[in-house]
This record gives sequence, C-alpha cells and structure tokens, in this order.
Amino acid sequence: MCGIVGYIGPKDCSDVLVSALTKLEYRGYDSAGIAVFENDAIKTVKTQGKLKDLEDKLKSVGKPQGHVGIGHTRWATHGEPSDINSHPHSGARVTIVHNGIIENYIELKEFLISKGREFLSETDTEVVAQLLDYKYNGNPLETIDSVMAELKGSFALGIMFKDFPDRVFAVRRESPLIVGVAEGECFIASDVPAILKYTKNYYLLEHDEIATLTKDGVNFVDEHLDPIEKELKTADWDMEAAEKSGYPHFMIKEINEQPDAIRTTIMPRIKEGLPCLEECGITLEKIKNFKNITIVACGTAMHAGMVGKYVIEDLARVPVNVDIASEFRYRNPIINEGDLVIIISQSGETADSLAAMRLAKQKGAKTLAIVNAKGSSIAREADMLIYTLAGPEIAVASTKAYITQLSVMYLFAFELALAKETLSEPECKRLVSALIKMPEAVSFVIKNCEEKCKYIATKLITSESLLYIGRGLDYALSMEGSLKLKEVSYIHSESYAAGELKHGTISLIDNEMPVISVATQTDIIPKTISNIVEVKSRGAKIILVCTDVCARGLKDGVADYVIEIPHTDELLMPITAVVPLQMLAYYTAINKGNDPDKPRNLAKSVTVE
Ligand code: AGP
Repeated sequence: MCGIVGYIGPKDCSDVLVSALTKLEYRGYDSAGIAVFENDAIKTVKTQGKLKDLEDKLKSVGKPQGHVGIGHTRWATHGEPSDINSHPHSGARVTIVHNGIIENYIELKEFLISKGREFLSETDTEVVAQLLDYKYNGNPLETIDSVMAELKGSFALGIMFKDFPDRVFAVRRESPLIVGVAEGECFIASDVPAILKYTKNYYLLEHDEIATLTKDGVNFVDEHLDPIEKELKTADWDMEAAEKSGYPHFMIKEINEQPDAIRTTIMPRIKEGLPCLEECGITLEKIKNFKNITIVACGTAMHAGMVGKYVIEDLARVPVNVDIASEFRYRNPIINEGDLVIIISQSGETADSLAAMRLAKQKGAKTLAIVNAKGSSIAREADMLIYTLAGPEIAVASTKAYITQLSVMYLFAFELALAKETLSEPECKRLVSALIKMPEAVSFVIKNCEEKCKYIATKLITSESLLYIGRGLDYALSMEGSLKLKEVSYIHSESYAAGELKHGTISLIDNEMPVISVATQTDIIPKTISNIVEVKSRGAKIILVCTDVCARGLKDGVADYVIEIPHTDELLMPITAVVPLQMLAYYTAINKGNDPDKPRNLAKSVTVE
C-alpha cells in the first residue's frame, strides 16, 4: 500500500523524507517521490521504481533544498506504475500525496474537465489535487474541508499549498495517518516506524480531522473546523525493533523473534495459572452466553482463525464459522444479535476486515478484535480487544503476528471453555502451563530445524507446483504453509485436506511434484501416512513435518525428508509446526534470489479493497 510522509523543521527536508520513506518500504510500492518548498516554490521529484531510483534521480536533477515537504511511495491502483502516475500530484496552487482510493474520482474528473481542467496522470489522486486547486479560496482549512465533503472512499492526504510555504496539512478518512512531533519539527507518516528515528511522540489522526503542521507544532480541527485537543501517544518500541538487528531479512528476524513474541503476548494474560483477559474487556460472565462465533479475517490472519475454529469447537463446543472478510462483507451473512464476531488482523487497517467488522456491528453482533497495530482502526472500533504483542512486523510475509494470533486464539478458547464449563479448572491449568512452554519449544525448533529446512529448500527451487496436505489442525496449518511459500518463493502451491486428495487432486501427482505433509495429531497420523503412501507411490517427493514421536514410528522410505519437531500438547502443535513451514518458504525464496521482505505485487497492509 502507498506510504505517506511529511516534514517541517530545521533538517534537510529531502533527506528526512527519503529516510522516512525507507521505513515504509515494507508496505510494498512501485514508485516514489517527494515535493519540497524551495524558495517558496514547490519542487517535485518522482519516479517509477524503488527509493534507490528516486535517490539517483535526486542526484541527477538536484535535490530540492528546503525544510518543508511531503513524500510518497506508490502502490499502483489507478494507472500503471510510471513516472507520471507517481506522487506527489499537483494542481496550480496545491501539491498532495495520497494513500487510499477515491471511489467517485471518475465523476469528479468529468466535472473538473467540464470546467476546463486538464489531467496529466491516470490517478484518482490527481483529481483530488485539481479539486483542491479548483475550490481553493485562500483558506486551506476551508478548502480541504469542502473537498473532503465531496470525496467518497478512503484517503490519507499530505497537502501543501503554494501560498503557505511554512505549513503542511494532513487529513484522513479510513486510511491510516499519524502526526509525529519533536522540538521544533513535525512529521506526518502512514506508520510509526517512519518517524522513530526522529521522535517517539505522535498523534493518531482520526477520521475527517485536519492537522496543520508548522515548525512550532501541530493544530487539529474537526470536520466543522472546530479546534480539538488530542492525546499525545508515545511509541513503546524503538528503531532497533524496526531494524534488522544483523539478520539479512526482516522475515528471518521475525521468525526468530517468535518465542519472545509469544511470551510477551501470553504472559500478562495469565493469572494464577488461568487465562485472564479482563484488561481486554473479557470476563467469563461477558462471554458465557455466546452461542455462535464467526471469525472474519484475510490471508494469514484468516488461517489463524482456522486454527481458532478447531480449538474453540473442541474445547468450548461453540460452533465457529470462519469467513474471508471480502466474502463476508458482500453476502448478507447470517449474524444475529448476541453472536460474537472475531476479527483478526495484524495491521488493524485491512479494508475488508474493517468493513466486515462494521457490518457485524450493524447486525447487532458483539465484536472482538485480535490486532497487532496499536491504535489502528479495527482496534479502536471493536467492542473487545486483545492486542497481539508481536511488536512491529515489517516483512510482508506474516510470521510472528500469526504465531501470536494463534496464542491469543488459545487463550480465548481456554477462557470461553471455562465460561461454558466445558473445561475444568485443572484441565485448563494444564493447557495454560503447556502454552507457557511453547516459546521454548519454538526456540528449539528454530535452532534444530533451520539447517534441514535450508537444505530441503534447495530441492524445491526447480518445482513448479507443490501440495501441502494435512488433516484437522494440520490441514488448517497447511493452508498457512502454502500461502507462505507462494507469497515469497512465487512457486504455485495448494493446501488440501489429506482425505480429499482421492477426490480429484491426486491426478496432479507425478515425480515432479513435492508434497509437504504435516502430521502432528496422533489419532489421525495413520490416516495421513496412508495418504502419503498413496502419493509417494505415484512419484511424489515427500517432505514430512511431524512430531519426534511420530518420526520414531515411521517405516523406512515413507518420506524423502522428515522434519521432526518436539511433541507438545497436541492442541498446541500448530505453534511449533508452523516454524519449519515458514523457514522452508524463506529459504526457498532466498535460493531463488527473491527478496522475501518485499515480494512482488504484494503490500503489507491492504487498506483498499
Ligand atoms: C501474510 O503473509 C500476508 N501478507 C497477508 O495474507 C495478510 O495476512 C493479510 O493481508 C491480512 O492482513 P492483516 O493481518 O494486516 O489484516
């Protein structure tokens, strides 16, 4: 998704903007640009490509010299990636950067064309720039306010008016935007890592609020242009957390951070050996009457929901439906008053998940958000909220956020099962104590399986397609393994419930096809093994991820490669079993020469539909 930055202060503005944009690269982008006031004129430099291309261009055309400016990384939505479609975009007296989608841009563009305006780009953003210019009455706040009233869709905007060379304006609806403050300087950014080098103090801009930044500080007004006071927030993680700390990529750094991420997420929510979610607004009394649960999310977060379904149904005996947010929101889902809808999201800004949550609320459901990004839209609007305390996740491929989403799903399932009296306190204590041991088990897997995963990955790079198979929880986990591999290695893969193979998919098997099988659930291992034998006898190369207990009982030659993980409580096995799947994906990407942190065509935070 696009990234926005802005700066006003004593430093070299071009340098600050480019440096801040590097911290937003994780969002995915295909072009970049900056605009800076230089001697009261706005100088814009932009290009298709990466920030390195922008830096080269800045060197060749001359870096704008000044102290007030805005910058942008673009992830193309309207119009192909090109220099001309890159941001910033301008009207005669205004220059802007934009994240989001203006849904009514075609009618606004037609209107502006009818008024004699001409457009250079294919973007929806240029329409906003031209509309601001068209409506400009000498008063920036009034102008912004009246343009906002005409815009439909989502936007975060950084705006500069030619007549006000000492100011940057910012406004948002749906798309995230923060305003950072330090002594004598102010910033805007799509996300906190962009400003951490300069300050930890920031304000969260709310919907339709307008910020005016000067070197002396920031003022906020609401949509009626009435001044408002806002709470200053302080980031509780630092640059170090947002940097690679010696790892070659964020993805492998974040895989290694998983033991700590689980610990940080679960430990404050455990009291006297039992789950305690009171600080998240969840008590036994509050949840005991939920009869139906729907989990809504996208991508990896949805896969965490799949594991959640198995665990909640198993322990609390409450039916759980898992839905993809983009499907849920458009199909009149059956949600009744008194149902619980759980929304899982790392970013807390995923457009479909946010819309799905709002729909669930409209239908009278109670909503519980499981979110990583503090203060994000989903976090703020949910009735109940459990933060996954994974810290900033920078790699596009989610790893530590997923594992903390699982951890929270377990805690919630334990709590619900206690509330429903389907789990006794001693049994719950046993499960909680097994959960507490999981960080150690994950560390063990990282340490002991990495070399093997590295090696097996060298065998996968020539494959055109892979299958992941498993049953029950292992099937839920296979979905995540398959997505991880696809997104970073660009190798096609599918996950299948092992028992489904015979109903069609087995026809794909030949000796070119690797099959990754996950088998951690003792009672169904024999069934999965017989599926493995079926595909092996048709030529497939088998990579088996299984417990040490299962590995000991394996007959010779059943699998080509076996990745053993320690046997823990079986309900909790996805927490450890996902780690080799993540590492297989990571090392396959590396072996193919791909950048696993910024896979092609992908964005970290999908804030548009
Ligand atoms: C995960 O590796 C993906 N990048 C993606 O599927 C992601 O999980 C999905 O877009 C949902 O994002 P969210 O958790 O921020 O809502």
